[in-house]
Amino acid sequence: MDPVSNSTSPRKRVLSGMRPTGKLHLGNYMGALHNWVRLQDEYECYFFIADLHALTTDYADPSGIAPNTREVALDFLAAGLDPQKCTVFVQSHVKPHYELPLLLGMITPLGWLERVPSYKEMQENLASKDLTNYGFLGYPVLMASDILLYQADFVPVGQDQQAHVELTREIARRFNQFYKKQPAEEEILPEPQVLLTPSPRLPGTDGRKMSKSYGNTILLSDPEAEIRAKLKPMVTDPARIRRKDPGNPDKCPVGDLHKIFSSQETLAKVYEGCTTAGIGCIECKTWVADAIVAHLAPIQERREHFEQKPALVTEILAAGDERARTRAGQTMQEVRAAMGLAQFTPGDVAQ
Ligand code: TRP
Ligand code: SF4
Repeated sequence: MDPVSNSTSPRKRVLSGMRPTGKLHLGNYMGALHNWVRLQDEYECYFFIADLHALTTDYADPSGIAPNTREVALDFLAAGLDPQKCTVFVQSHVKPHYELPLLLGMITPLGWLERVPSYKEMQENLASKDLTNYGFLGYPVLMASDILLYQADFVPVGQDQQAHVELTREIARRFNQFYKKQPAEEEILPEPQVLLTPSPRLPGTDGRKMSKSYGNTILLSDPEAEIRAKLKPMVTDPARIRRKDPGNPDKCPVGDLHKIFSSQETLAKVYEGCTTAGIGCIECKTWVADAIVAHLAPIQERREHFEQKPALVTEILAAGDERARTRAGQTMQEVRAAMGLAQFTPGDVAQ
């Protein structure tokens, strides 16, 4: 089956979302956004802020959701998502995202949801929150709906989300079995594929994976002085205790950052200087700070531009919401009919 033949555009569709966790950090950027920016040139892309997903865990105190949604929108635009090339929208502004989860909930066995590995894991990791709510169990149905509403071909996500996309495929398969169209016709909910995007493991300042919950992040919006201050005490190769001890950049989180952000030339100097104890770690960190600051300069410039034009950001999101609504609305019509719900036209109601 040709997955694009039922589409109005010859390009394949890509969809992905991010929860509004607040200002984004380098790990979010290298792990996702950076790839999204490249994808928008090749695919018909939908990128959204998953604020309903935030509510599944933060329902008792949702005060962060709206401000964080705004920050993530700014970071999306700052990173280079271009509203001329892709659709950027807010999940909760598009009603089909409330509607399809209810309908897919009818056909999703409870056991499938209880078996999702992240379900028990997150309940344990977020033990301070009561996650025995229906909405949290339904997280994967919400996510499957996000994807299936756009009949997406590809979903660029990290490994942590792969199980969710797999479940999305299973839900789509079950839907298509129950609600068969004519043999020659396209299925209403095509099965999406994960697009595993290359993403280097990005260490935080304590050497562990960069993550908001570890408090070891460098934000895309951190000013230069802050970036340098955060990198200064960064963990290094534990074998390099004194200045005269040689080290190994392959065993050093600062070395890992160099491999991602520094030029070949700088990288060569790092290997030479580190392994011969020719440079100190302080100097080495200055170089990596230079590289990161340079990398973030255009991003921060764009962020400032959009920060000064809040009405423009609102306008961009509203336009994205509208495009998303139109596209998702088409799928909903097919889904409602397939699931046996009556369709009334205005003429019918009048009679
Ligand atoms: N669950 C994803 C995360 O936590 C966010 C998300 C919500 C998403 N809906 C999606 C990602 C649909 C891809 C497609 O990162
Ligand atoms: Fe790490 Fe650089 Fe120090 Fe080597 S010189 S241990 S790469 S910080």
